Amino acid sequence: MDSIIVKGGTALSGQIPIAGAKNACLALMPATLLSDEPLTLTNAPRLSDIKTMTLLLQSLGAEVTSMQGGRVLAMSSHDLNNLTADYDIVRKMRASNLVLGPLLARAGRAVVSLPGGCAIGARPMDLHIAGLEALGAEIELKDGYLHAEARGGLKGAVIEQRFASVGATENIVMAATLAKGTTVLKNAAREPEIVDLVKCLRAMGAQIDGEGTDRIEIQGVDRLGGATHRVVADRIELGTYMIAPAIAGGELELIGGSMDLLPGFCEKLQEAGVTITQTNEGVKVSRANGRVHAVNVRTEVFPGFPTDLQAQMMALMCTADGVSDLEETIFENRFMHAPELMRMGANIDVHGGHARVTGVERLKGAPVMATDLRASVSLILAGLAAEGETVVNRVYHLDRGYERVEDKLGACGAVIERIKGE
Ligand code: EPU
Repeated sequence: MDSIIVKGGTALSGQIPIAGAKNACLALMPATLLSDEPLTLTNAPRLSDIKTMTLLLQSLGAEVTSMQGGRVLAMSSHDLNNLTADYDIVRKMRASNLVLGPLLARAGRAVVSLPGGCAIGARPMDLHIAGLEALGAEIELKDGYLHAEARGGLKGAVIEQRFASVGATENIVMAATLAKGTTVLKNAAREPEIVDLVKCLRAMGAQIDGEGTDRIEIQGVDRLGGATHRVVADRIELGTYMIAPAIAGGELELIGGSMDLLPGFCEKLQEAGVTITQTNEGVKVSRANGRVHAVNVRTEVFPGFPTDLQAQMMALMCTADGVSDLEETIFENRFMHAPELMRMGANIDVHGGHARVTGVERLKGAPVMATDLRASVSLILAGLAAEGETVVNRVYHLDRGYERVEDKLGACGAVIERIKGE
């Protein structure tokens, strides 16, 4: 397994291109299953999770061709010959469950493995199931697989989610595009990835209103056509690289980024004393000499502070001047990075969903272990600020969600390299 070695203490300077959003692309790819005409995605990120979704779609009979080094994905689901999403793929990546809604809508049937546990929380699928059942599907759990069937097709319904789940919103909206009649989804997720999915579905001929609000209305149509769609910028990659100059010092311009994608996050970073400006090209971020101020953070659904940036923010708070309270409200077990940061000299006290971080003058490099995707990158960020060498092991998590992190940071002055494992 590869590891990443970071030697801390260098200020950063330069530009980093922000890739297309992993979590948008993972929802857009299954949308191909809704139509027998081609769907092409441009600005796709080059990540192992995208390869996993490619394998899953191919296993269902879809054609997926990766072009321009992975930047463009040309897909066609003309002939679907398998309606089962196998456990072997789903257990590797939970977003595999996003084929359930589209398969059910297009083929009237789907068998999708339940994903099982996850490092950051239990992550059940009850909201996906309740939403699709409200549209008329019958869903039964057999041998670890959800067997879903919509005899006579799906029918529009009024659905109110108890929580604004991103994945359930995506599955329900995709399924409702081909249902008979009108679906109203209340307490819908408002994340930019949902807005991006709706734009693509609309380009395919779907009739949808209200994306970006908590009430999405879908007027079912008989069939969807083909489309070409550009994947929105990855706001989590953007936020991660915004923290890099905040923790290491210096200035970075993040090309293709937009502050609108991260309102709650930008507000907190500014409160901590980081300078952020929107430029014509992207987002410029700098930190003057001295430590950032400690700020309190509570993760929330969009437009609040994203859970996917909590680990990176914790790394920053480890070096802040003062005491910071971080509260994680979205996932029940998303502080696995805390003990690793403590190996680097951080002062963190975790109680359930709360972490109190007392900033220290300087972190110290250490060998550490990546436990999940966002945890891995938080350790790299901490390494940029630490004295000496940090070795981040098990970086396969990182490659699921960050393109060539060592090249992007290395080009801006960071001393960072990948050591190839067996
Ligand atoms: N939940 C339920 N029942 C459900 C669905 C969700 O209780 O049926 C709970 C989950 O257990 C969790 C909370 O609701 O506690 C939020 O889950 P949500 O469904 O909103 O998240 P998701 O769709 O599974 C996506 C991203 C995650 C991101 C979350 C929250 C993708 C592929 N994944 O997950 O991204 O953290 O939304 O914004 O879009 C990551 O990229 O590192 C990542 C984990």
